[in-house]
Amino acid sequence: MHIYKATDYQEMSRKAANIISAQIIIKPDCVLGLATGSTPLGIYQQLIDWYKKGDLDFSNVKTVNLDEYKGLPAENVQSYHYFMKKNLFDQVNINSETTYLPDGTASDSETECTRFNNLIEEIGGIDLQLLGLGHNGHIGFNEPGESFEKGTHCVALAQSTIEANSRLFDEGEIVPSHAYTMGIKTIMLAKKILLVVSGEEKADILHKALTGPVTPTLPASILQLHPDLTVVADEAALSKFDIE
Ligand code: F6R
Repeated sequence: MHIYKATDYQEMSRKAANIISAQIIIKPDCVLGLATGSTPLGIYQQLIDWYKKGDLDFSNVKTVNLDEYKGLPAENVQSYHYFMKKNLFDQVNINSETTYLPDGTASDSETECTRFNNLIEEIGGIDLQLLGLGHNGHIGFNEPGESFEKGTHCVALAQSTIEANSRLFDEGEIVPSHAYTMGIKTIMLAKKILLVVSGEEKADILHKALTGPVTPTLPASILQLHPDLTVVADEAALSKFDIE
């Protein structure tokens, strides 16, 4: 495991974007596993800036996203499809035919999970998976207690996650209660993992995840067993670690 300590969110974003761009340069047709949420926004902005400067080419890159809300169509502003288009895909030269997310509107959840698992395999597996960390230690939407053996599946979201997400929804709007997510198994099969974490409120859970016992009650703890894990976090998130 490599841990990079950044002074602040901006430096964390730049460092993580650097690792992603190195992946694209080394393998222009790589498969990137992407995440939504607040943490990666600075990374996506940095990648966009480098693309606009002519330093990055996304034309052969393929992407798969960790998760999507069940029930939300791609056009819904709260969907992760929409988030990805707005915050990255529409601003770089990526082929929209090769950006994949679970389909929130699929009529049969099981068929959709199988389709998504097969798709990841067909495109050659994930070269680099970007992950954020939930306040309860979730990764993707794998909430505490979820079995480590699962591939893509449909989950009922923890109350704390629904509450954390509700800040993004307008008052009166229904916050989805279920989501599709890559499972821990899917995530662990990625060749490289890049975990990005920012802010003091995640310091405790990050420390437990990386130094405590590996247990399904703290899903991110499994990352300790990944052979190629890089953690990029700011000083605040790393405040419980004794590293320079
Ligand atoms: C997002 C995802 C989630 C987030 C996590 C952290 O696709 O899968 O696991 O990475 O909830 O979210 P932020 O970055 O908003 O704190």
